[in-house]
Amino acid sequence: MKISYLLTAIISLVTLQVSAQEWVVPAEKSASLSPFAFSDSTRKAGGDLYNLNCKSCHGDPGKNNAVKLVPMPPDPASAQLQGNSDGAMFHKVAEGRGLMPAFKNTLSASDLWRVVSFIRGFNEKYVQEVAQKLSLGTSLENVKFAINWNNELNQLQVTVTALKALTRQPVPGAEMKLSVRRYFGNLQVDGVHTTDNQGVAVFNFPKGLPGDSLGFVQLQLKPVDETAFGEIKVDTTMAIGVPTYRPPLNKERAMWNVVGKTPIWLLLTYLITVLTVWGLIVYVMLQLRAIYKSGEEDDSRSKSKVE
Ligand code: HEC
Repeated sequence: MKISYLLTAIISLVTLQVSAQEWVVPAEKSASLSPFAFSDSTRKAGGDLYNLNCKSCHGDPGKNNAVKLVPMPPDPASAQLQGNSDGAMFHKVAEGRGLMPAFKNTLSASDLWRVVSFIRGFNEKYVQEVAQKLSLGTSLENVKFAINWNNELNQLQVTVTALKALTRQPVPGAEMKLSVRRYFGNLQVDGVHTTDNQGVAVFNFPKGLPGDSLGFVQLQLKPVDETAFGEIKVDTTMAIGVPTYRPPLNKERAMWNVVGKTPIWLLLTYLITVLTVWGLIVYVMLQLRAIYKSGEEDDSRSKSKVE
């Protein structure tokens, strides 16, 4: 009797603990801000995304008609959900937890911010703080990256611009990284560089980097902070590497060609082993057949005796 009380107490404590578990968001994620200002158009786009991806669980904002799950999906208009910072809300939707799905692979960063903007529409007290680092005043969707090659200095010049008041203007303070495509994955080149007031960042390109047979290398330019810029990246091919001949993979000297390198003793051992095993199998089958045959003969002999 006493034990069952104790068990009940322990179980209820444990469940309480689990359901009350706080959803901790790393400080730097919590502090991140939307790169664009929320407007009627972002709220409308966010609303469409909400109806498609979130409504089935979270219900209509302000109506408290969420699906009954454990824990309950909070109403977007609730104090619980509105109590999140923009960055924390973004992070929770992107990463998910338990029954709350992760949306980072389904929705782009810009779309996630649009959903946040829609949810904020149900909070009268909310005042948006737009990312200051890139105080553009316009949507960052108009951002463009351009790459120029300086042959004398062996440098790549990267220019980041955005549309502002209908003219293209440099974006200062954007952290960029450059990588080169290799056989397996990407090789980052020359660390991270931040654009200056002209929106320009300069990367020193390594001398003698092997390219393909004509010296072409595949480059990829990306912002470090993808949540601020969304999915903008530039993939391009430039003839700035050293022409390198790589033998096709079935050539005798290619790294993966193993036939040409096999020592004879290994080949012979392998063949003898395989032949022995098959020989044994065939031998056993033949023996079985012989047994069957002699059994048949016995049968017919005994039958003829009876007659
Ligand atoms: C399959 C059901 C489901 C769907 C779909 C879903 N959610 Fe959730 N959501 C949950 C549940 C359950 C929780 C509570 C998770 C927890 O606290 O462990 C949650 C929690 C959250 C939170 C954190 C609330 C807090 O406590 O701070 C946010 C923000 C959120 N959801 C937003 C969204 C958005 C935006 C979408 C659509 C893009 C979405 N959810 C889609 C079930 C869902």
